[in-house]
Amino acid sequence: MSFKFVQMSDPQLGFYASRHPGTEGIAYEVANLSKAISITNEIAPDFVITTGDLMQDRLESSHADIVKDMYSQLNCDYYFAPGNADLTNSPEFEDIERYNKRFGKDYYSFNHKESQFIILNSCVLFDWSNVPNEDAKQITFLEQQLEIGKQSKVVHQLIFMHHPLFGNDPKEEDSHMVLPKSQRSKFLKLLDDYKVSGVFTGHWHANNITNYNSTNLITSGPITFSLGEEGSGIRLIEVDGNNFNHKYIEL
Ligand SMILES: [Fe+2]
Repeated sequence: MSFKFVQMSDPQLGFYASRHPGTEGIAYEVANLSKAISITNEIAPDFVITTGDLMQDRLESSHADIVKDMYSQLNCDYYFAPGNADLTNSPEFEDIERYNKRFGKDYYSFNHKESQFIILNSCVLFDWSNVPNEDAKQITFLEQQLEIGKQSKVVHQLIFMHHPLFGNDPKEEDSHMVLPKSQRSKFLKLLDDYKVSGVFTGHWHANNITNYNSTNLITSGPITFSLGEEGSGIRLIEVDGNNFNHKYIEL
């Protein structure tokens, strides 16, 4: 069973201006997102998953409307995961509710052509202090979904969320770049137990490819301003039976 899909990350409308004194607005991101959408429509994937940070200022409702309007120009289905700019670094329930109203569920899963796609809200795994138990609910959801996928003998189990698990070392210290060790260890055990094929993340505004045992850990550069060696871009993933290939396409 072969198919292709696209990962986008961090459209983050308004990020460029926030980092460049003297500039304002969202023109940088609107131009890049528009380019990303037309490249994606040429590729004609089965769907697009965007791993968070849809906008820089979560309180700017007009930017949410622009994001939704622009994504509606895709000729395929599209799915969102929330990022820290969407919910803050220490989300509160009202942040999650606002996101749900705008963009739909903050965690869910679906199957496509014998593969399973699990979308998570990593922000409540990063900091759950204002939303007690939301972290545990997230890990329980992940485990339940992985078990359902295993029982139904899916070919690939693929996870999508905003925060990377780690950069190079599974034991690396906590930082704003990665999930804290206390959550990471539970997560890594599940990846191993279920032989998850891949975890796709964003947040860094740069590419980083690593692995945890047999699981590919793929962090993709942003639609907005890149902080990495490569420019802004999208990732094309081609699934062919038991294998999948992926490549980053600069805008
Ligand atoms: Fe982020």
